[in-house]
Amino acid sequence: MLKKVFLILVAGVVFAWQSFAGSANALSLSEEIRTIPLNEDGVSVTLSNKEAQLGSKLFIDNCAQCHLQGKTKTNPNVGLSKEALANALPARDNLLGLVDYIKNPTSYDGEEDISLYHLSTERPDLWPEIRNYTEEDIKAVAGYILIQTNSDPRWGKRSLIEP
Ligand code: HEC
Repeated sequence: MLKKVFLILVAGVVFAWQSFAGSANALSLSEEIRTIPLNEDGVSVTLSNKEAQLGSKLFIDNCAQCHLQGKTKTNPNVGLSKEALANALPARDNLLGLVDYIKNPTSYDGEEDISLYHLSTERPDLWPEIRNYTEEDIKAVAGYILIQTNSDPRWGKRSLIEP
C-alpha cells in the first residue's frame, strides 16, 4: 500500500516537472525565428527570447483585440502579414518601420496621420493604454509582429471564406 502511494507521488512529481519544462521550452524560440529585418536596407537584428516574450505579452494586452492572428478586424485590407507590411508606404516589414508606426501611425499610402484613430505613443492624451510604453516596449511589440511573420505561415493571411 505504502509502495503504491509512493509510486503515485513519484509519477505526480515527474508529470509536474514535465509540464513545467514543456511550457518553459514553448517560450524559447530559435535564433532564426527571432532574427528580423531592422530596416529597409536588408540589415537584420536578432531579438532575445526575453524581448520576444515581452512583445507577445504587450501584443496580447494592447493589440490582439483588433489584430488577432495578425489580421485587422475593422480593415482586413491593412493586416499584419509580411506582404501587407511590405507594400505599405513607407514599408513596414522591418523593425524601424513598425517602431515608427507605433509612434506616428499613418494611412497605408503614408499620406495621412491617423493617430486620432490608431494607438500612438506620441499621443498619450488619446491613448492612455500605451502611455507608459518605454522604447524597449515599443521595440518588443514591433519585433513580435515580425517574429510572427517568421514563425506562423498563417499570420495575417485572410482565410478564403471571410466570416
Ligand atoms: C481598436 C483597434 C486596434 C488596436 C487596439 C490596434 N490596432 Fe493596429 N490597426 C487597426 C486598424 C483599423 C488598422 C488599419 C489602419 C488603416 O486604415 O490604415 C491598423 C493598422 C496597423 C498597422 C499597419 C499595418 C499595415 O499593413 O500597414 C500596424 C503595424 C498596426 N496596426 C500595429 C498595431 C499595434 C502594434 C497595436 C498594439 C500596440 C495595434 N495596432 C493596436 C486597429 C487597431
